[in-house]
Amino acid sequence: MEFYIDTAEIEAIKKYWDMGVIDGVTTNPTLIARSGRVFSEVVAEIAEVVKGPISVEAVSETAEELIEESKKLAEYGEHIVIKIPMTEAGLKATKELTKLGIKTNVTLIFSASQALLAAKAGATYVSVFVGRLDDKGHEGMDVVWESSQIFQNFGMESKIITASIRHPRHVIDAAKAGSHVATVPPAILDKMTTHPLTDDGLARFAADWAKVKA
Ligand code: E4P
Repeated sequence: MEFYIDTAEIEAIKKYWDMGVIDGVTTNPTLIARSGRVFSEVVAEIAEVVKGPISVEAVSETAEELIEESKKLAEYGEHIVIKIPMTEAGLKATKELTKLGIKTNVTLIFSASQALLAAKAGATYVSVFVGRLDDKGHEGMDVVWESSQIFQNFGMESKIITASIRHPRHVIDAAKAGSHVATVPPAILDKMTTHPLTDDGLARFAADWAKVKA
């Protein structure tokens, strides 16, 4: 299973890249705005650090505009993946971009039928937003389970990204459901790294080691 970090914060990206636990990065307009940085500079800096898929979002409305915008975004580097909205125009753009060899991540997917259509259109990745479904009282992970089953049944090549992750349990459930990727915010990666029993254990070992004669 691959992990992407869901942020535009370069320090967090460096931290987890250096630990060897992330394979790529996902961004979106909200995350870029939150960084308070210039878009082109952030993407260039991320590409300096991360030698894996980096998703950046195209925000145009029509298929033709999305294709033109995506071509420009793809020039940021060989690892750039273009996030395309799950709309009719987005599907059309996905088909054309796939023909051009530009990788796509169809985003804002909230049902298995949307995931299936995005995969049919040739999406490299389909991003299922589990947290936003949970927020509305649904079971977001069901969409990952269903999509995973369907993709396996027919040997579909698109990879499922479990996105909009709210807590470490989402990551474990995504892994159990066969999601190829989980894109995880830094705060959740922090929570995944630590456990109070690890801290207790370390304190106990340190105290006992102090009693040992060298
Ligand atoms: C994924 O690519 C998105 O950037 C992200 O997971 C959205 O998460 P949110 O629902 O917390 O905004």
